[in-house]
Amino acid sequence: MNKKTENISGWKRFMKSMTKAHDLGTEEDILLEHDYDGIKELDNVLPPWWLYGFYITIAISVFYYFQVFYNSEEYSQAKEYESEVAKSKVEVEAYKAENPEKFNTDNIVAFTDDENIAKGKELFTSKTCFACHLNDLGGSIGPNLTDNSWISGGDVKSLFNTITNGGRPGKGMIAWESTITREERIQLASYIISMQGTSPANPKAAEGDIIFPVIVEEKTEE
Ligand code: HEC
Repeated sequence: MNKKTENISGWKRFMKSMTKAHDLGTEEDILLEHDYDGIKELDNVLPPWWLYGFYITIAISVFYYFQVFYNSEEYSQAKEYESEVAKSKVEVEAYKAENPEKFNTDNIVAFTDDENIAKGKELFTSKTCFACHLNDLGGSIGPNLTDNSWISGGDVKSLFNTITNGGRPGKGMIAWESTITREERIQLASYIISMQGTSPANPKAAEGDIIFPVIVEEKTEE
């Protein structure tokens, strides 16, 4: 036997010990008595390679158990969570600092000219806002945008922020930042402000605890 065939038979031996595959042609030895419409079953053993993997996971679980329950001074899931949250907060702040145009609302001022308000009105339809807030902004799925009760604030910066980053999670108002430009978001916010105090056909009941502007009540009485 030369070196090459020895190697191959060594590999084959190893494979056989890892699979314990039953030799072909001797199936009768391990054939079970079941017979399901001609389909028969062989009583093969679990392959050792699979069993070893299983034993390793059991060994690791014991190690993990003691690590978590007896060593919790150094490690606990709660601590891991806290440190991850702290780390992410730093990253969020860094991201905000690097992208001031997205988060910095300091220099946002509402448009008051007809052209930009008209553009905002047009966007309110073309960007499907009306589907949830209605064309007269009276509200349906989304809240009434003509009254002075706001969930997230009715000043231009708050409106811009809601349109940019969305409403409260899970309420249906998504973040529009990726689909509407910054300029257009200011136009939308300006249009909403211009509609303050108007009388929609079927106004939805007031929602939110933030009252803005405070003087709207007086305006409507005039
Ligand atoms: C799928 C429905 C839906 C669409 C489309 C939608 N909104 Fe909203 N909107 C909502 C809901 C629901 C809320 C309430 C969010 C909350 O409860 O935090 C909301 C809240 C708001 C608010 C804040 C109201 C407040 O009281 O603070 C503004 C402003 C607003 N939407 C403007 C827009 C604009 C502008 C568009 C189009 C670009 C738009 N929405 C599209 C459902 C929608």
